[in-house]
Amino acid sequence: ELNFFFPVEHTLATIKPDALEEHRDEILEQIQGTGFTISQIKEANLSREMAEEFYKEHKGKPFFEQLVNYMCRGPCLMMILSKENAVQEWRSLMGPTDPTEAQKVSPDSLRAKFAKSILQNAVHGSSNGEHAMEKMKFIFGDIDLDRIVHESFGETP
Ligand code: PPS
Repeated sequence: ELNFFFPVEHTLATIKPDALEEHRDEILEQIQGTGFTISQIKEANLSREMAEEFYKEHKGKPFFEQLVNYMCRGPCLMMILSKENAVQEWRSLMGPTDPTEAQKVSPDSLRAKFAKSILQNAVHGSSNGEHAMEKMKFIFGDIDLDRIVHESFGETP
C-alpha cells in the first residue's frame, strides 16, 4: 500500500531502566498503536563502557556521569523502530526531553506520561538519521536494514 511510495525509515529507541520496570507494557502498546514496527528488540544491561560510548556526544557535559550511572543501573529495552519518517515520528511520540515541557506541549507523549525528570525521562531516541544508523549498528551489529524492511512488511524485493 502506501509504503511503496513512502519509504520506511529506521531509528534506535530505548526504554530506560526505571520505565522498563514500571511501564513496559503501556509503552510497548503505545509504540505499536502508533504504527511503528518493532523490527529488532533486545533487553540488555549496558556496561559502563557501553553507556559511555552510546552517549559519547554528551561527554564533558555536567550531567554525563549521572546519565551513564542511570542508564546502567538495570536492564534497558533496545529496539529498532521502523515506519515512514521514523526518526521524527519517534521523537514526537517521546515528547520533549524535560517532562515539565512535555506535559505542556505534548500531554499524550511518553515522556509527559512516564518521565520523572530530565534525567529519568523514560525513553531515548536518535536525534537524526546519521545518529540512528550509528546507534543501530552499535547496539545490533551489522544488520541488513533492507532485509528488515522486507521481513517486517512481508514484501519481496
Ligand atoms: S542536548 O545537549 O540538547 O543534546 O541534550 P538533550 O537532548 O536535551 O539531552 C541529552 C540527554 O541528556 C540527558 N540530560 C540530562 N540528564 C540529567 N540532567 C540534566 N540536566 C540533563 N539534560 C539532559 C537527557 O535525559 C538526554 O537523554 P536522552 O537519552 O538522549 O533522552
